[in-house]
Amino acid sequence: MPEFSPGLEGVVAAETAVSEVDGANGRLIYRGGYLIEDLAPVAGFEETAYLLWHGKLPNKTELDSLRHQMAAARRLKDGARGSLSVLDPAIDPMDTLRTVVSAQGAAKALTQPTLDEAIALTAVFPTVVAAAHRRAKGMDLLEPREDLGHAANLLWMMEGKEASHQRVHWLETYLVLLADHGLNASTFTARVIASTGSDLTSCIVGAIGALKGPAHGGATFAARTMLDKIGSIENVETWLEKAHAEHRRFAGFGHRVYRTYDPRAKILRELAQTAAPDLYRLAAHTEEVALKILHEAHPERPNATNVDFWASVVLTGVGIPKELFTCVFATSRVAGWTAHVLESLADLRIIRPASVWKGPQPGVKPLPLANR
Ligand SMILES: CC(C)(COP(=O)(O)OP(=O)(O)OC[C@H]1O[C@@H](n2cnc3c(N)ncnc32)[C@H](O)[C@@H]1OP(=O)(O)O)[C@@H](O)C(=O)NCCC(=O)NCCS
Repeated sequence: MPEFSPGLEGVVAAETAVSEVDGANGRLIYRGGYLIEDLAPVAGFEETAYLLWHGKLPNKTELDSLRHQMAAARRLKDGARGSLSVLDPAIDPMDTLRTVVSAQGAAKALTQPTLDEAIALTAVFPTVVAAAHRRAKGMDLLEPREDLGHAANLLWMMEGKEASHQRVHWLETYLVLLADHGLNASTFTARVIASTGSDLTSCIVGAIGALKGPAHGGATFAARTMLDKIGSIENVETWLEKAHAEHRRFAGFGHRVYRTYDPRAKILRELAQTAAPDLYRLAAHTEEVALKILHEAHPERPNATNVDFWASVVLTGVGIPKELFTCVFATSRVAGWTAHVLESLADLRIIRPASVWKGPQPGVKPLPLANR
């Protein structure tokens, strides 16, 4: 019997060519062998999604065709509109996303995941996120714009006006950086569901649920909340030392795989300087002190800054309210989730790990049932 590995740490559970997290060297490699540092400054979200789905970057005709297909798939189906209308506008937007995506993909019978479905599901995320946002604010919903890209259309649908080129660029860079990340918890969830022969929407709805937790996608919200609580540069030391003494984790620090600075965090840190200069100053000091505290307590641990810390600053600069951070993360990662599901179909075997029995062995005593 193989040894139990808590959190499946070090367990190899899949072979993939979608992306590779090289934790030792702080590198993230996307499909085809592209380093994230090379891709992020030049590629848009649709191009990146194409790369993850097809294994090669699109030429102009292929990119135009994908953009067209995604733009045409942004509207909610009647069932999804109906499900949205019965939800309380005050609920967590991730719950809205989980429910409406589920309704959008509801079908009469089980179907095998297809690329067209992957494209359509990815395309509809901004529509749901914007709807959750506008409903929470008591505003009427807006129809998607077919002439805008994934990032620009999300901001349009949220705000009802075209966002500046700069804000779209910051958001687009974030979306490219977050589109895939090896066998992270939500991607693994999607692959587990796919391994049973289930449909694409079920895989994606499960992944949304996994992303929501503060140890995963919810960490961007938690990082911004931490910065809000710290409030000002003078409070940084006192706040972090108290949190550390109370064994509370610093949101946006630590990672299962990276043994060094997260390369995505490095890129977002650069952007944050212009995207949100005031918050950047507070965050930079917070980072410095947090790393010092973590290192002094455990010099042997590689608890470095992760993507969520600097993503929280960049998304603030884009103008995204923090309640939507995890949804916007999902709006990017859905490309990776669907790419993994499609990849896994080539060699489908049910994912069914073992467990170590910790209960008592069956005894010879009579069963202690009531009234006997
Ligand atoms: C990301 C994370 C879940 C990785 O978890 P993991 O690989 O299972 O690591 P562990 O939870 O075993 O942590 C190892 C040790 O480092 C400590 N540690 C890890 N991250 C920490 C953090 N952000 N702040 C303070 N201590 C931390 C843990 O308390 C643990 O120490 P302990 O054994 O004395 O309790 C974890 O670092 C974390 O919770 N970070 C904060 C949330 C976050 O930013 N998540 C987004 C990840 S992209």
